[in-house]
Amino acid sequence: MGIGTAAQEEDFASVLLTEAEIAERVEALAREIAAQYGDKHPLLIGVLKGSIVFLADLMRKLNIPLEIDLICASSYGCSAETSGTVTLLKDLSQDIRGRHVLVVEDIVDTGVTLRCLLDLLQERSPASLGIVALLSKPDRRRAHIDIDFLGFEIPDEFVVGYGLDFAEKYRHLPYVAALKPEAYAPSGDDNTP
Ligand code: PRP
Repeated sequence: MGIGTAAQEEDFASVLLTEAEIAERVEALAREIAAQYGDKHPLLIGVLKGSIVFLADLMRKLNIPLEIDLICASSYGCSAETSGTVTLLKDLSQDIRGRHVLVVEDIVDTGVTLRCLLDLLQERSPASLGIVALLSKPDRRRAHIDIDFLGFEIPDEFVVGYGLDFAEKYRHLPYVAALKPEAYAPSGDDNTP
C-alpha cells in the first residue's frame, strides 16, 4: 500500500481506490467540467477539510479560468455517526452572487452536510450551483442530492485517505482504503464514511 505505516495498514480491510485509479478519474472529471464550464469562470468551493486533496488535484487538471474558495461545514467532528446538523465553522471569503459555483466534496454519504450547505449557498443567489464529488455512498442517502460530476460510487464501508479521515487520521494517504469495522467501531455496530 505504500505511504501508510504498517500499524495503520493493519486497520485497513482493503484498498478501494488506488492512486492511479483516482488520478485517471480526476482527469476525466476535469475534462467533463472544462467542457461545460470553459467560458463560465467558475468558482470552485472546497468543503474543508476532506475535499482539499481532491480540490488540489482537480483544479490543476482544469485548464480553464477559475477561482477557488473554501468553506468549512462539519456534521461529524470526531464521532463516527452524523449528528444530523451542520455547523458552519468557516464561511467563504467572497460574494457568490451571479457566480457559477461548483461545490467540491470528497464524499456524499447521508447528504445532510451538502443539503444544508446547498440551501445556504442558494440563498446567496449564485448564477448556478453545481456539485462535484469524488465519492458517493448511495445506500446511505438521507437527503436528496443531484451530483453533477461524480468520481466513484462506493459501497457502504468506512473509507479513509485522499482527504478523508477517521478521528483526523489517514487524510494524507494517496489512496482510498476501507477500514476494518473493529478499527472504528469496536462494538461492530456502526458504519459511516
Ligand atoms: C465529511 C465529508 C462530507 C460529509 C459527508 O465531512 O467531507 O463533508 O462528511 O457526510 P454526509 O453526506 O453524511 O453529510 P466531515 O464533517 O467529517 O468533516 P471533514 O471534511 O473535516 O472530515
